[in-house]
Amino acid sequence: MEAIAIFFKVTLPSYFETLPIPETFGGFLQLTGADWLRMVPLIGTLGAVIVLTVMQIRKAKGCGQVNPSIEKDKDKVVHSFDIEDLGDKAAFCRCWRSKAFPKCDGSHNMHNKLTGDNVGPLCLSRKSASS
Ligand code: FES
Repeated sequence: MEAIAIFFKVTLPSYFETLPIPETFGGFLQLTGADWLRMVPLIGTLGAVIVLTVMQIRKAKGCGQVNPSIEKDKDKVVHSFDIEDLGDKAAFCRCWRSKAFPKCDGSHNMHNKLTGDNVGPLCLSRKSASS
């Protein structure tokens, strides 16, 4: 614990005192290449913290996920059907908004209207024997 205390109370403040951090934004334009090199660890650390924070916020909000709500307690959502049990027609949801998932209930229409997306169902139909 003493090493951590020394790091935050002595080492880190000493490091910040050596950095050529300008007093104004315009001062950044006056920095030399050597000045920027001395600030690389600080800029890299701040960048990493910002990226990791944004990634965690996006993950917590579900950003980038296709499935917003269906069976979120599972690692993977999988449904299996015997093709003989589907009847002559079946429409399967590909927008992940159907209340009858995995079957399409038309929720893709509202999703498309709200987001500008263009998703629709996977429609299966059995060809008649005469065609
Ligand atoms: Fe999702 Fe129709 S409800 S594709």
